[in-house]
Amino acid sequence: MFKYLAYVSRQSHVITNNDLKELLSKSRTRNSEIEVTGMLIYFHGSFIQYLEGKEENIDSLYNKIAEDRRHQSVTEIDSGFSEKRAFSEWSMAFKKLQKDEAFEILGYKDLETAQLFDNYQSPDEHPALNLLNNYVKNL
Ligand SMILES: Cc1cc2nc3c(=O)[nH]c(=O)nc-3n(C[C@H](O)[C@H](O)[C@H](O)COP(=O)(O)O)c2cc1C
Repeated sequence: MFKYLAYVSRQSHVITNNDLKELLSKSRTRNSEIEVTGMLIYFHGSFIQYLEGKEENIDSLYNKIAEDRRHQSVTEIDSGFSEKRAFSEWSMAFKKLQKDEAFEILGYKDLETAQLFDNYQSPDEHPALNLLNNYVKNL
């Protein structure tokens, strides 16, 4: 069983593309090491993140993330357990919801938001993703 957890937060100060690049690159390295997958969306100063992996890894990572001073008002929106990962191929899929051609980083794909949810076929298994999906659609 995998644990999943989704939260939303607000940046605490202006975050540049370079800051995001560094955050993503470090996160991807660490997440691969501890087999955490998921997705991070950045939109107008807000973060939405979905994390999945072994329970103890998700809990300790989320504790660290919640204390990270780059963002605030970290609010868990859902968590639970699932048999299958929703994001098996990604150490952390990323979407910045704004056109920005300068933002070219390794692993970044200019996915349409909806495509992030393509490999997510069974809403019942992933209530958090369902929530995120609706949240993103309504942005
Ligand atoms: C919005 C946001 C998302 C983050 N996502 C991850 C992540 O997926 N994986 C990760 O290892 N760190 C992530 N971090 C960074 C962690 O908060 C923390 O800096 C990192 O785990 C290193 O902690 P340590 O050096 O104290 O071990 C994120 C930070 C922010 C602000």
